Amino acid sequence: MRILGLESSCDDTGVAVYDAQAGLLAHRRYSQAALHLDYGGVVPELASRDHIRKALPLIRQVLAAAGTRGRDLDGIAYTAGPGLAGALLAGAAVARALAHAWGVRAIGVHHMEGHLLSPMLEPDPPAFPFVALLVSGGHTLLAEVSGPGRYRILGESLDDAAGEAFDKGAKLLGLGYPGGPAIEAAAEAGVPGRFRFPRPMTDRPGLDFSFSGLKTACALAAGEQPLDDQRTADIAAELQAAIIDTLAIKAERALEQTGLARLVVAGGVSANRMLRARLDALARERGISCHFPRFEFCTDNGAMIAYAGYLRLRAGQADAGLEFAARPRWRLSDLPPMAP
Ligand code: KG4
Ligand code: ZN
Repeated sequence: MRILGLESSCDDTGVAVYDAQAGLLAHRRYSQAALHLDYGGVVPELASRDHIRKALPLIRQVLAAAGTRGRDLDGIAYTAGPGLAGALLAGAAVARALAHAWGVRAIGVHHMEGHLLSPMLEPDPPAFPFVALLVSGGHTLLAEVSGPGRYRILGESLDDAAGEAFDKGAKLLGLGYPGGPAIEAAAEAGVPGRFRFPRPMTDRPGLDFSFSGLKTACALAAGEQPLDDQRTADIAAELQAAIIDTLAIKAERALEQTGLARLVVAGGVSANRMLRARLDALARERGISCHFPRFEFCTDNGAMIAYAGYLRLRAGQADAGLEFAARPRWRLSDLPPMAP
């Protein structure tokens, strides 16, 4: 089976071709980051329009790089949700129209299922069952994964996602968008311990998260006066440490609670080197394995959508009829299971 994947849930247009035998044949991503930079965050209407401009040229490039014609595909997978409604609709319209024209099946994929399965594209994929820690700009959650499509949510953020905490902190510190890589870079020159931020909700049982208070902690630390580089770096270092500590404490709790011996970490924040090192160390201490996607597949990409779509099409699932819809809000636990 050969599947084209199209991701357009936020500000990245991602396209890839995945082949069941040969693996990933080609992938490209176009990032809109520069377009949204001046606004300090993603402007939904600009995002939708740019997906419309970029989707077809990217698809042409990726099909050429994969040496595949559209009609020879076995299906097209696109992100149906969750995400920005207009951006999702732009991708869904392109994918469904091409599938109709080429006479191939289409499948709407859950964005977080794409992230969750992204480490499967690596040479040493994790076996089921495992604990998944999904950390992106829109979601932070822990899930017990007993098989493809079998997800039990153990805990999730009650307010901001971990990536959002990085983004809001960076905006406050004048470091630009996206905030994660900017905070990570600024934190390198930071003196740890100059500030002390809370590790939210770690002092009580449970696996839910709450990151919105960290924005206030950043604002208080920044104070009224203009920020110099050292103070900015010190705040960035403490914000990063607070987020990583919180994620590591809850991940360890989830491993203890489930007794599982594999941890999968995915989503944009999983590109953070300190987080990766911390969770690798945790896994070593516990004698378990820890799996991440490669760096370029931590943030949004077409490869994870192609792969998740491949599994669902292989399980006999596909879109029916000619109507299509985006699902801006869509819970991971509402997905139907796939046969193993
Ligand atoms: O998965 P993703 O590309 O999009 C969503 O599904 O939301 O995640 C984007 C998020 C942003 O909040 C971004 O700041 C964060 O991932 N991110 C990082 C890093 N790279 C991206 N956070 C921390 N460290 C990084 N290196
Ligand atoms: Zn994402």
